Amino acid sequence: MDLATYVNAMRDPAGLPFYPSIFQFLLVLTFALHITMVNLVVGSTFVAIWETWKRNEYGLRLSKALGRVITVGMSIAIVLGVAPLLFVQVIYDPFWYTATTLSAFWALMFLVVITLAFYAGYGFYLGNKKAEVMEAKTGWAWVAGGLLLLTALFIHMLSMEQLMPQHWKEWIVSAQGTVSYAGGEFHGIEFGRLLHFLLPSFAVTGVFLMLYSSYFKDREDYDQAYLKYVGEKGAWLALWASILAIGAGFWWLGLIPSEFHFARNPFFLIGAVVGVATTAFIGSSVYKPQEKAIPAAILMFVSIFIMCCAREALRMKHMSQAGYSIYNYPVNADWPSTILFFATFVMGLFVLYFPAIAAYQAGKVKAGEVAIIDPSIGRKAVSAMIGWFVIVAGLGIVISLKNGTLF
Ligand code: HEM
Repeated sequence: MDLATYVNAMRDPAGLPFYPSIFQFLLVLTFALHITMVNLVVGSTFVAIWETWKRNEYGLRLSKALGRVITVGMSIAIVLGVAPLLFVQVIYDPFWYTATTLSAFWALMFLVVITLAFYAGYGFYLGNKKAEVMEAKTGWAWVAGGLLLLTALFIHMLSMEQLMPQHWKEWIVSAQGTVSYAGGEFHGIEFGRLLHFLLPSFAVTGVFLMLYSSYFKDREDYDQAYLKYVGEKGAWLALWASILAIGAGFWWLGLIPSEFHFARNPFFLIGAVVGVATTAFIGSSVYKPQEKAIPAAILMFVSIFIMCCAREALRMKHMSQAGYSIYNYPVNADWPSTILFFATFVMGLFVLYFPAIAAYQAGKVKAGEVAIIDPSIGRKAVSAMIGWFVIVAGLGIVISLKNGTLF
């Protein structure tokens, strides 16, 4: 059986429940959100270590603030990882399931390692919460940082194995003809690509520090000199990290098979231009980080999004070599489940609006003061949740009754 027949035969016989381009767009968008949060967590971990080492008041204060970012950010990064995972499983199922079978051990280790990283992040945050300058420790942050990098290595390997179907057979059947289904394969590491996804950690964290400095600037109980220190540190960090990330991007480009002519790909070209423009803008903001924080954050996300589009375009090139295209995946449009999916998505955004606005307002008032938030927003969010639950549970019961699976 040739490769194209194999990968196409492995597709879900039920077809896709909706049009592949919609899933692809959502895959890229949610991956961009995931990698942005991953970058914030990885960058915050190493910046917190650095700031603790300095053994001064501002450094420790920033390191404690980043301790919180690590724990909250890691939860968000993990949740945001689930979304692209679902879309990959839907449109690239033959590739994802083969990679996670070939490397089943590592796919499971991924879960163990990320869980330990999460506890280590908490260890750092709680351990230093009340520490004085000379007492603060970085041990748990090192553990968290190491485990986060290991997590990135595992998911990078699983992503790369999907792009190399031409090697699957030789990975399972050795040259001597021995077949191994042990799930211990570990292939395809491209450090240029991995670095291109990890170096922006410092750029994203730098921009986050600019936002932090700008957000707290109107609070009377915040030391303005501390905010200036954080803002300028953020801008410099973002500038140098962006320059290095561009360098890693060209290293990655050099690793891509030359027959793809990827240097001429429009997503790559737009990404390169926007990446350089973002770096130049950040360069212009090093002495006014507070004023330029919001446009810098928008530009940074646009650069990341275009980089994610380029990553997807590259995946399509690889897959076309194997005779696979998501655009000829059979579609059996299932409108009710699609409507429920999008309605749940909109409802989720509406429900999240309340805690988001509450957290934003709470940070704007002095410690000990109470933020005034319109309670009707919270009541509407709770009603939306109850309404959603009634509809989903009701639909489930009606469908089960209809299919005779309940009784
Ligand atoms: C917080 C720790 C995590 C780190 C440091 C991390 C890092 C990364 C990196 C660097 C990539 C890009 C790999 C590449 O394209 O070469 C990636 C992709 C991805 N990650 Fe994460 N990740 C984390 C957690 C998670 C979790 C918990 C999930 C799932 C629940 C997840 C799901 C994904 C998916 C689906 C992709 C894209 C795979 C593909 O497109 O084929 N990640 N992650």
